[in-house]
Amino acid sequence: MRSIGSVTPSSAGLSRAISEFVGASSAVNVAEWGSGTGPITRALLSAMPANGKLWAFEIDHGMAAGLRAALPDPRLTVVEESASETLRIAGRVDAIVSALPYSFFPKELTRDLLGAGQASLKPGAPMVLLQYRPDVLPPFLTQIFGSYERRFYPWNLPPALLFRVTAR
Ligand SMILES: C[S@@+](CC[C@H](N)C(=O)[O-])C[C@H]1O[C@@H](n2cnc3c(N)ncnc32)[C@H](O)[C@@H]1O
Repeated sequence: MRSIGSVTPSSAGLSRAISEFVGASSAVNVAEWGSGTGPITRALLSAMPANGKLWAFEIDHGMAAGLRAALPDPRLTVVEESASETLRIAGRVDAIVSALPYSFFPKELTRDLLGAGQASLKPGAPMVLLQYRPDVLPPFLTQIFGSYERRFYPWNLPPALLFRVTAR
């Protein structure tokens, strides 16, 4: 399905790597974009502090309901709305993790979502984006955030790319 973008959930190892790359252990207010069945949600919650707040944006009703039932953690709020609503719902956040399938999205949607990310992050706060294609995100990341860092994570099926940007 084009809004889902991957047939297999992220592995526990990849999810931990994402959580570490975004610095979840020192982030209090965090937004996760496209939680799906929640592998990254779990990794974020196990790293985040006791006073943390995790907003999990997931537009698929079945997945959002499943996540609420599976993870009754008081720090977690599953939001059944588009990630573009982050600022309105969560306010300025300390970090964003995105697993949205940008390679299936129209360019305008990708630009709008990444612009919403920049607007929702505190200045200097990080965003980590999980992708499987190397070519889709870089032009948008350079335009909106100025620069990006890229890491390759080969121990997932499919092998994954992680992009990290910081808000201006
Ligand atoms: C590739 S799956 C990632 C699932 C999970 N995070 C993982 O890593 O296994 C992408 C998810 O993004 C959700 N999604 C797509 N567009 C979205 C949007 N605009 N806002 C929030 N979630 C969205 C889809 O419903 C899907 O569950």
